Amino acid sequence: MSIYQHFARHYQNSQYSAFTRRVLNEIFPHWLEVLDFKPQSLLDMACGAGEFAIAQAKAGLQVVGLDQSQTLLRMAQSAAAEESVKLRWVQGDMSQFSLAEHFDCVTCWFDSLNYLLKIEDLANCFKAAYAHLHPGGYFLFDMNTIYGIVVQWQKHPYFIQQETPDYLEVCANSCDYENSVAQMRIIMFERQGKTWARHEEVHTERGYAVDDILLLLENAGFQVKHVLGNPLLMRPLETEDSRLWVAARKPEATM
Ligand SMILES: C[S@@+](CC[C@H](N)C(=O)[O-])C[C@H]1O[C@@H](n2cnc3c(N)ncnc32)[C@H](O)[C@@H]1O
Repeated sequence: MSIYQHFARHYQNSQYSAFTRRVLNEIFPHWLEVLDFKPQSLLDMACGAGEFAIAQAKAGLQVVGLDQSQTLLRMAQSAAAEESVKLRWVQGDMSQFSLAEHFDCVTCWFDSLNYLLKIEDLANCFKAAYAHLHPGGYFLFDMNTIYGIVVQWQKHPYFIQQETPDYLEVCANSCDYENSVAQMRIIMFERQGKTWARHEEVHTERGYAVDDILLLLENAGFQVKHVLGNPLLMRPLETEDSRLWVAARKPEATM
């Protein structure tokens, strides 16, 4: 079953976008300041409905947004058109894509890398990010940690994520502890007049060991500059952090 289809519009019109806004308004500007980095071009991998990518294009960057979900990309396209912002959208798999351009910055936010369930796919995604960066460019991303997926998520086996008079969203979490793979069943009830329609999507995310993530980044060619538990405080990652934040740099070209 494909994901971000029926769920796409409920994802975009909800408190999920609070995370994206935090990245947009606080975390990304903070990274730019700390790294003394002024990118002119940006590739947002797993761009979703495009909020982050559109904001960067509005700020004057040349932007490409890449995502596998056609439904989310269509929403991104119409949001950009509404705001008369020009940027390019590409439907593709972030673990295997090739664009005929390079960027100063590559980003990937909000668990998106955890959707890659095979370590080879994560490795290929890091290689693709590296291949699409200019020398000296940065790859900035966050990921759920294993602790986040197998402990924090599992503290809430069932919960109501959204509730309005016309929509009810119930999430059910389960976990394959051996492989650090968690599933979130998103069960959506939409009011249709006097009846309710029910839809379901299952989202699967895998947590990776920090050492594996760092090794894959180094194997791809990156210099890992920061691995943080709280980027705004520049606090290093701790054992009980649910999310890690990484800034990795493609080295300057050597003569
Ligand atoms: C939690 S959403 C995050 C979206 C966006 N980055 C944001 O901050 O709102 C996860 C995104 O990852 C995308 N995604 C998952 N696997 C992908 C893959 N292999 N290639 C490209 N996009 C993928 C989904 O379509 C979805 O847009």
